[in-house]
Amino acid sequence: MVATTKTGEGWSSRSAFILAAIGAAVGLGNVWRFPTLAGENGGGAFVLFYVACVVLLGLPLVLSEIFIGRAGQTDAVGSIKKVAADSGVSSRWSVFGAIGAIAAFLILSFYSVVAGWVLYYVGVMGADLMQAIGSGDPFRGALAGESQEAIQGRMGDLFASPMLLLAMHFVFMGGTLYIVARGVHGGIEKAATWLMPAFFALLVGITIYGAIVGDMGDALAFLFTPDWSRLTPQAMNEALGQALFSLSLGVAGLITYGSYIREGHKLGSTSAAIAVADTSVALLAGLMIFPIVLAVGLDPAAGPTLVFQTLPFAFQSMPAGALIGFLFFVLILVAAITSSISLLEVPTAYGIGELGLRRHSSALLFGGGAFLIGIACLLGYNVWSDVRPLGFWPLFAETDILDTVDGFTGKVMLPLGALLTSLFIGWRADRKLVQQTTGLTGGMFALWRFLIAWLCPIAVTIILVTGLFPAVLGG
Ligand code: PFF
Repeated sequence: MVATTKTGEGWSSRSAFILAAIGAAVGLGNVWRFPTLAGENGGGAFVLFYVACVVLLGLPLVLSEIFIGRAGQTDAVGSIKKVAADSGVSSRWSVFGAIGAIAAFLILSFYSVVAGWVLYYVGVMGADLMQAIGSGDPFRGALAGESQEAIQGRMGDLFASPMLLLAMHFVFMGGTLYIVARGVHGGIEKAATWLMPAFFALLVGITIYGAIVGDMGDALAFLFTPDWSRLTPQAMNEALGQALFSLSLGVAGLITYGSYIREGHKLGSTSAAIAVADTSVALLAGLMIFPIVLAVGLDPAAGPTLVFQTLPFAFQSMPAGALIGFLFFVLILVAAITSSISLLEVPTAYGIGELGLRRHSSALLFGGGAFLIGIACLLGYNVWSDVRPLGFWPLFAETDILDTVDGFTGKVMLPLGALLTSLFIGWRADRKLVQQTTGLTGGMFALWRFLIAWLCPIAVTIILVTGLFPAVLGG
């Protein structure tokens, strides 16, 4: 008999939880955003600083969020209230659970749109692969005979078509909703158990392929040789923000997943496993993408279009590029879905725990709402391309709808959630409760407390201020 939490749900084992949490952490952030940022910021120094952020700030926060969920055993808001009550402090701290749930809801809206682009490329590369097989040459390069302009133009064509964008967004959000509506055990856990092994097999396989046909030496040098002059305050700010996003911090995702844990977990080692896996995947994604990009002499600093425009062209001149290109986009899609289900689970659990909704209705309400906001995001690429939702705010004066939702959640809500989490755990939560629940003692506990009470609040405040007032960084 599976012990259940207040919401009536629970993971069936420790490994099921770890797999689902890794699935939540590993997503577009690892395979799309990390390589993009590492490329734009000159590689090595950014990468090493990023790893330091994960160890010193990310890991303590991962443990804090899982602790809150484990101790609270219900949705994020309810869990924080419970820990606050057990610690004898104000239940108003639960506001960061609400901020997190709203942030997760907003992130889901544009995450599904971007995942929709990936789905479109799965279709493009899939059709190309079928054609290659049909023509008796299954191991040819991708998109044979198409010029570089034509390949890059595909993204523009997609963006110009609201219907196509909408269809992709609909399918992806529908899939996410379907899994979440099936519950923690029958939906989320099952999806993670099937999809994560497939993801890892593809990641390792394509990286080995890149090492054979691409330029691994140059990629290693690019990713790991630091040129400290490239580590500008702006780059540090982006690395810190990316560490939060990639580990799914500040949006109560790990509080929610942690609430489905049963007795007997060692939360310290569980947290470390999640952080190590997430960071390894980001680094491996870099080692998968850059050997291929560099081998063809393309620019690693292409920006957000690196994966969608640069790589398909690179696959053109690679042996079996049609096949590997297709598998590459399948891999990104798999990473995206295990993350989007965790994004939807946060507000869904809130609806169940705080609003008394049934799981189906709650998932439908929040999944449907995020779908509608996503429509606004995708229209921002065509019919609403002039709309600037926060145009009155100089920081977002030039920003389209999708980038505004992304920027506002990433620059304001996520750091704010992380800051309040660290202050709550570092200064307000009952020490005995924390020690008992996490299983941390002695020097490890002291180290963790120091990081969460001092380093995290200071560093996250710096991200918040410099993110909101880029002039501070001279930007
Ligand atoms: N960590 C995910 C990624 O790297 O793509 C994004 C994410 C998922 C953020 C779930 C927050 C979350 F709750």
